[in-house]
Amino acid sequence: MSIGSNQREGDVIVVAQSGPLAGEVVVPGAKNSVLKLLAATLLADGRYTLTNVPVIEDVVIMADLLRAVGLEITFSPAPVGETGQHLSIYNSGAITPVAPFELADRIRSSVNLVGPLLGRFGQVDIALPGGDDFGGRPIDMHLRGLEAMGAEFETSSEGIVGRCAHLVGAEVVFDFPSVGATENVLMAAVVADGVTTIRNAAREPEIADLCNMLRKMGCRIDGIGTATLTITGVVPSSLQAVTHEVVTDRVQSATYIAAVGMCGGTIRVARANAQHMGMMLTRFTDMGMIFDIDDEGITATAPDRLTSVDVSTLPYPGVATDYKPLVVAMLSMANGVGIVTENLYPGRFRYVDELRALGANIEIDGHHAVVRGVEHLTGATVVAPDIRAGAALVVAGLAASGITEIGDVFHIDRGYDDIVGRLSALGASISRVRPES
Ligand code: EPU
Repeated sequence: MSIGSNQREGDVIVVAQSGPLAGEVVVPGAKNSVLKLLAATLLADGRYTLTNVPVIEDVVIMADLLRAVGLEITFSPAPVGETGQHLSIYNSGAITPVAPFELADRIRSSVNLVGPLLGRFGQVDIALPGGDDFGGRPIDMHLRGLEAMGAEFETSSEGIVGRCAHLVGAEVVFDFPSVGATENVLMAAVVADGVTTIRNAAREPEIADLCNMLRKMGCRIDGIGTATLTITGVVPSSLQAVTHEVVTDRVQSATYIAAVGMCGGTIRVARANAQHMGMMLTRFTDMGMIFDIDDEGITATAPDRLTSVDVSTLPYPGVATDYKPLVVAMLSMANGVGIVTENLYPGRFRYVDELRALGANIEIDGHHAVVRGVEHLTGATVVAPDIRAGAALVVAGLAASGITEIGDVFHIDRGYDDIVGRLSALGASISRVRPES
């Protein structure tokens, strides 16, 4: 895998036992929002600016993918006082709805090009999406939703070819509130003929962020943040390019809360949006964390020792599956036994062996993890199996005695904006090491 200019595949994150943590971390925008906002810029010509964009590898890949279909995209550092970076996107209207396979199969969000390309150009030719491997990640609901609007697809083991004369608004009822399927049908519906109703739509804050940007562009969407989205299609030429600030990343926010929970201390998680993290904060509170919440962020204080709780992952507003590796890491040192139930991805327990290497006592039974808290973890050499699990291993390593080395850091780079610098600023002993080549 080739990765960004300041990163190498062989890099290792080295952490030593740390804590108590103190100070402030400023959390940037959400990966799972910005990638979709970028796809939305296909819908209308003009120059867009996205602010509060996280400096992460998936944004680089998505930008390369969108450049390949015809957008001009430039990155610039955020002005002093802002976090993240700015992206300027120019859509001249000269778009080729054929995405290079080698880029599309590197990230899950490549599938988000399907809705806008079909909606605006009546055509899409793209690889099946890549992204983290949690077992099967089908896209049947995306395709069925778009088929209800008149699209026709040919799929093979390699990719998807979609065609439509023009999309027509329809009633789309999802079996399950899929994030990606909701976004794809939404981005097709905003330029379809007539009214589309999406029932059992996903309600994640990142989808509301996408809806809010689309509305600023001139799209007509009702029911934002609810399970029923009603979209009245408009002609693409009536839409305009906009400037939009990416919503704060709730999973990065939770990562720093998990770090202080495991290492002790009090930290300020600036820009964290507590309203977007309700159920997770409730579970953290049940574990003994204390929060002071205001409009600008969350101040988090750890108890002497965390208390075990049971946690089940669910679509928003439930506890997101993306928090789960952090929760399992926290429970591994908590007082008592916690049962963590995964309801979204059957294969999302691959990091458990890595936590066991640190001394965690975790048994997997189907889609449940039984986590018996131990008093001490011990440093070890582990590898990050995916983005969130990698971050959980970093956090667990900070609480383990001795040194923990985390390899395959490129997974973490896909979704975390300078986790090393941010944890270091909180007093953690953490560094990124580039092996001699
Ligand atoms: N599903 C289907 N058919 C479909 C679509 C989904 O069976 O057509 C199933 C999936 O297999 C999965 C469940 O529905 O079991 C949820 O999938 P969903 O479509 O909601 O997820 P996604 O859009 O593929 C996004 C995030 C994930 C996050 C999930 C759930 C992005 C790029 N990815 O994936 O984030 O876990 O929603 O909240 O937005 C991450 O950031 O580390 C990450 C994996």
